[in-house]
Amino acid sequence: MAVSRAVDGPSRDRVQNPYSRRPNWLYPAVVVAVFSVFVVYAFLIGVFETSGSFGPYLSPFFSPPIEVRVAGFLVPPGIWVAPFPLAFRLTCYYYRKAIFRAYFRHPRACAVPEPPRGTYRGETRLWIFNNLHRFALYLILVQTAILWYDAVASFVYRGSFHFGLGTLIMVLNVVCLSGYTLGCHSMRHLVGGGKDCFSCHRARYRLWRGVSVLNARHEAWAWVSMFSVWATDLYIRLLIHGVVPQASWN
Ligand code: FES
Repeated sequence: MAVSRAVDGPSRDRVQNPYSRRPNWLYPAVVVAVFSVFVVYAFLIGVFETSGSFGPYLSPFFSPPIEVRVAGFLVPPGIWVAPFPLAFRLTCYYYRKAIFRAYFRHPRACAVPEPPRGTYRGETRLWIFNNLHRFALYLILVQTAILWYDAVASFVYRGSFHFGLGTLIMVLNVVCLSGYTLGCHSMRHLVGGGKDCFSCHRARYRLWRGVSVLNARHEAWAWVSMFSVWATDLYIRLLIHGVVPQASWN
């Protein structure tokens, strides 16, 4: 969370972050650049690629694999998978903050005066869909379980034990995704919310403590898991197109 104070002067735009010497525009610019490149990459893969599997590896963009043909033509399988992570990430509390601040600069940060351009309506009107985040969580928990299955299944190829760079990447990816998903604010409420007495519900208290540890670094998990998904698909795609050779150690 950026903590800022207004600087005396004629411009309400000039603010100084007391905890960083980096220019204020740098972080939002990086967010816009990286998110935009990722979204374009995901869109192109989802629409133009028809396969996400190579040997024992399956891209998270194509899991679970769904094959539907319309008039003999294969509907891009990634289209059936994309809505779930998209709904989860777009309504995520961290991504909402990042998107509003970086793309719209509205609001720019906590306690920072803004140029007059209307009231912030982050969870009303069109944005009321942000409140559906907990339902997106339920769906993504199922998908994360499927990705765990894929990662474990990648240890077996043609009936034998297999261990390769792809296996390692897939396992790391699902660990990062689990760190992000289980640290979700809605998950924290799911396991620990609605209880006035934690000492009466020790198991839920312990779960809540565990989720809170992940939740404290939710922003970092959001970034790391986005890169891990990206890297997993990229590696498998390079294998599919014969750009890199398969690396395995068994
Ligand atoms: Fe970020 Fe739920 S708040 S995933």
